[in-house]
Amino acid sequence: MRESLDTLRNEFLARIVDGASEQEVQRLRVEFLGRKGKLTLMFHRLKEVPPEERPGLGEALNELRGFVEGKLELRLTELKRREKERLLQAERVDITLPGSRWERGRVHPLTLVMDEITDVFVAMGFELARGPDIEDDYHNFEALNMPPDHPARDMQDTFFVSAARVLRTHTSPVQIRVMETRKPPLQVIAPGAVYRHDDDATHSPMFHQVEGFMVDSQIAFSDLKGVLTHFLRRVFRPETGVRFRPSFFPFTEPSAEVDIQCFLCDGKGMVQGQQACRVCKGTGWLEILGAGMIDPEVFRFVGYDAERVSGFAFGMGVERIAMLKYGIEDIRLFFQNELRFLRQFA
Ligand code: PHE
Repeated sequence: MRESLDTLRNEFLARIVDGASEQEVQRLRVEFLGRKGKLTLMFHRLKEVPPEERPGLGEALNELRGFVEGKLELRLTELKRREKERLLQAERVDITLPGSRWERGRVHPLTLVMDEITDVFVAMGFELARGPDIEDDYHNFEALNMPPDHPARDMQDTFFVSAARVLRTHTSPVQIRVMETRKPPLQVIAPGAVYRHDDDATHSPMFHQVEGFMVDSQIAFSDLKGVLTHFLRRVFRPETGVRFRPSFFPFTEPSAEVDIQCFLCDGKGMVQGQQACRVCKGTGWLEILGAGMIDPEVFRFVGYDAERVSGFAFGMGVERIAMLKYGIEDIRLFFQNELRFLRQFA
């Protein structure tokens, strides 16, 4: 029986090789140590040996069982260790790889300029108001002193939604909407999109204006001059020259167009001695705003007493200001959403 013990040990050693898988290990455990396992049977056969040999043989059997159990356990531990290593390798992450960057979005240049314009007026105490893009004839024209057949309507290449509804051609209807619902004193700016069917390098069918107006008991033209001069010197240069030229709008009287001194040629109209300045076309001035004292007729439409209140209003094109500020030569660049263009504005 001693010899069969040695045979068994050798057989076991031959089977528990390096390549043994977990299943093979489990199979070996059953084959040797299971209820009918080869080693278990040897224990049963112990009673067949003469009594004096039993203790020695029993001890040898116990030793072999301990040996087999130890080897099986060792092999399992080794298999687990290898599996863990394999997983670690498979899931390996290269922490030195540069990460993928999140692109940071930016504010559109028109929003940027519109916010800047708004901020200057808010700092002077103006509050914000908005009106609908689809406007009725009454607010866009009639209450602004442009009756149905008024020739001034011609200036405004209107998009009609229906006979009585238009895409607003300017932000001035917001003046009417605010005055209709509130009483003076008022100090309001109204930024927003406007629409005219015009389309070339300096005109877009959709563009933006910032409207502003102030109404109180004693507003004078000098207030308009002060507010606009301050505004223009904040948005352009602090020393910018400002000029008010007589003009006409049906809803203001008197009316003015406001120019700033050209910042490219410093108002000289010439660059490098002889060449006509390409920004101001040689005039030395850039037209920036339409403005004027609110016409008494407009006050009548909103139910104000023109004998007791007065006010000024102004309107400006945001694209034009942005083009001048940044030297942009084609208005369509604002709406093509070409990233190389948009990325230039921080
Ligand atoms: N609404 C005029 C325009 O679109 C601008 C303007 C506004 C003029 C307010 C005077 C007063 O051209």
